[in-house]
Amino acid sequence: MKITSKELRKTWIEFYKSKGHIDIGAVSLIGDGSTGAMFNVAGMQPLMPYLLGKEHPCGKRLCNVQGCIRTVDIDSVGDESHCTFFEMMGNWSLGDYFKKEKTAWTFELLTTKFNLEKDKIHASVFEGDESAPRDIETAKLLENLGIKKENIHFFPKEDNWWELDGLYDTPCGPDNEWFYPMENGNLVEIGNDVYMQYKKTKEGYVPLSNKNVDTGFGFERCLMFLNNLTDVYKTDLFEKAVKILEARCNTEYGRDESVTRAMRIICDHTRTMVMLIGDEKGILPSNVGAGYILRRVMRRAIRYVKKLDLSCYVLQEIAVSFIEDYKEFYPSLEKKKEFILDEIKKETDKFEKALFEGEKEFNKVILGIEKHKEFAKKSGEIVPNIISGKSAFRLYDTFGFPIELTQELAKERGYDVNTEDYQKCFKEHQEKSKIVSGAFKGGLVDDSLTSARLHTATHIMLAGLRKMFGNDVVQKGSNITPERLRFDFNLDHKMTQEEILELEEFVNDVIKKEIPVRFEEVSLEEAKSSGAIGTFDSKYSEKVKVYVIDGVDRQICGGPHAQNTKELHHFKIIKEESSSSGIRRIKAILD
Ligand code: ALA
Repeated sequence: MKITSKELRKTWIEFYKSKGHIDIGAVSLIGDGSTGAMFNVAGMQPLMPYLLGKEHPCGKRLCNVQGCIRTVDIDSVGDESHCTFFEMMGNWSLGDYFKKEKTAWTFELLTTKFNLEKDKIHASVFEGDESAPRDIETAKLLENLGIKKENIHFFPKEDNWWELDGLYDTPCGPDNEWFYPMENGNLVEIGNDVYMQYKKTKEGYVPLSNKNVDTGFGFERCLMFLNNLTDVYKTDLFEKAVKILEARCNTEYGRDESVTRAMRIICDHTRTMVMLIGDEKGILPSNVGAGYILRRVMRRAIRYVKKLDLSCYVLQEIAVSFIEDYKEFYPSLEKKKEFILDEIKKETDKFEKALFEGEKEFNKVILGIEKHKEFAKKSGEIVPNIISGKSAFRLYDTFGFPIELTQELAKERGYDVNTEDYQKCFKEHQEKSKIVSGAFKGGLVDDSLTSARLHTATHIMLAGLRKMFGNDVVQKGSNITPERLRFDFNLDHKMTQEEILELEEFVNDVIKKEIPVRFEEVSLEEAKSSGAIGTFDSKYSEKVKVYVIDGVDRQICGGPHAQNTKELHHFKIIKEESSSSGIRRIKAILD
């Protein structure tokens, strides 16, 4: 190890202390409700009131290493770099120093503490648009510090602007990102300095009286980069956890791809569960809100423990290793140690019980087929050893039984599973209810009001998109969790900030109008002639349900929905991104 995680923490804090900053330490990971975000997603989030002008008790120069949670990409965890819990090294000027000092300090840190070569450093700044001018000032400062002119890049808002998506009355501004080549030549972004000088309002960007600096350097990413690694799970942050798994699995991390993936998922998810349960405002697994996210993380970890054929006790063992390593920086972990381990055990037992019930059901399915075989023998009919997709789906739907598990058990009995039909059942179910479970269902997923409301929001949103971009726009996919909606649709361009605002406004207007959501049961023909949109026409049987929001939307759909648009309270888009060629994806929340 060239630099350990402890050394990196210390380097960061000591450096900024030497520049007059106070270490404010980390605060709770759980959102305080002020922004509508469930968890802290950035180091600046808890400092929002101060960036907007309130006086901070520790003064105008602050620094820390702050834990953050981002679960939007939970399914990406398993690769080399995604984590659901991560830390951000940060420092802030609350209306104190600005670009001149900040560029000089980041440069000094990189060249004297991280020992990077100045000629290899790349930096990008905001190229300017109607929101804010081109950041020539920062570019000049960087050049004067000795960064090569050809290594200074001007990029558009997509790259060099930082704001909390979808959240209004929050600070934001252009940023200066820093890059450095890895040994293999690939440039990696190592951090960014945001010049927070605007407030994002519904009407647009308004200059703040204070010109602030908000710096964020990803701790895990920097640690990986400074040690010339490309795998975050090879840093010392995961060393103990990986060792435990290597010993239990009797193999080396990295030897087998699927085992390695499982190990990463277990490592990441266990660290996240420890941090969320052991947080000073700790949460517990449940079927709603933040608790549901935690449950998903825990059950996903348990599934992968099972995949590795290990006892679930390994989760507690790994949890202990994280508690030991992190308690110095997150003191509540030490105090809550027994509690954390107990909760992990409880959730494990609960999920194992669901798995046990599922196994009984599985045996019944096999027995059914065996009986059928007996019976068929007489007539000479041959019944293959195949578990139908329908049965496999029922196991999943009712008992939270992952398909992989069904396949495994089937194999032991000399059976196959019709996974194609299983996928069909799965998709049909999604399309019918338009409520997608995420990873688990059957008592685990919440078919709650929240999901129904988000479902209604997708209808209004589609109506808005069609109004803005024409009736060629159709739904291309939808995934709803109690946390957010995700909606794919066809559109030939990235939506501009103005278009996003317009769409939000459209949905929020419909919410404000308090329109009842009702449904009609009519024939497919009647539905079509009444102008209802139906994305899955061919799959519908004779009578169909048409959900109607009068004056806004008519859609063939199975429901469930909110009863009145007012139940949606307030709609916010948190992300607009490309899903695939010609398909855009919106993630949005209700708060
Ligand atoms: N707020 C900025 C970030 O999260 C520093 O990257």
